[in-house]
Amino acid sequence: MEFSSDIGAVQRRMAQTQEGVGRRKATFEALNISAGQHILDLGCGGGHLLKDLALSVGVNGHVVGLDPSDKQIEAAQEYCKGLDNVSFNLDSAVKLSFEDNAFDAVASIQVLEYVKDVDSALAEISRVIKPGGRLATVSVLWDHWRFHGPDPALNDRMHEAFKAHCFHQMLPLEMPKKLERHGFIGAQCTPMGFLNNSLHHNSFAYLASTLLTHFAEGQGISKEDTERWRKELDESEREGRFGFVSVPVLTTAIAK
Ligand SMILES: C[S@@+](CC[C@H](N)C(=O)[O-])C[C@H]1O[C@@H](n2cnc3c(N)ncnc32)[C@H](O)[C@@H]1O
Repeated sequence: MEFSSDIGAVQRRMAQTQEGVGRRKATFEALNISAGQHILDLGCGGGHLLKDLALSVGVNGHVVGLDPSDKQIEAAQEYCKGLDNVSFNLDSAVKLSFEDNAFDAVASIQVLEYVKDVDSALAEISRVIKPGGRLATVSVLWDHWRFHGPDPALNDRMHEAFKAHCFHQMLPLEMPKKLERHGFIGAQCTPMGFLNNSLHHNSFAYLASTLLTHFAEGQGISKEDTERWRKELDESEREGRFGFVSVPVLTTAIAK
């Protein structure tokens, strides 16, 4: 998915929801950070994790936020303003400009499923992380990312259109073997599934419905249909039969 300025803004709001905070906390804990470490946040988006990492590694540590979207990097720079142990890198995960063994740990939240050549990205992560360094990455089981409530036929069409929004629908299933092939040991997967019953305007579900609508229209679904779908979501919420389910998975591993 292109993180255009509109979609980037929605994505940054999603990062600030309860569910966004939850996946950062899980990632953060998995990294087991110490003062003085050098950490890479691959696909840093608006810089929410980056700021927490920068504050944790202290003045002798350093964190790098990498993202190929200049709008996301601009937002991350603004969010991390005033911290002098943070730098930014406008690059793609598949070709990193860092030296071998440059980082003690690498974090990456909801990024690798958007990288077509995910094996090249994992090879690069493996190259830049020190032996014994930790990788913590979150990707979503997109086949289970689902709104419940609207007319089933229209709902199916909307979800079908959304499949093209990323390259890898079920990446967490493939991660342990891939990580092993790229020189990591001890891969562990922790599902962090959640259910939203509310569509209030700062809820993950509401923001996700905005994203899905934008994407479905880009895939040729008419505005009339996307508006009907959203109206039916609201109706189902009023009638107490709305739900939005997602299963992000935290995968952790250690570099050999
Ligand atoms: C869903 S956002 C997640 C952002 C952030 N990690 C967070 O949790 O809020 C996905 C991010 O991946 C970035 N991205 C897309 N393709 C990438 C690539 N090839 N290499 C690195 N980052 C990429 C996007 O620009 C976007 O900022």
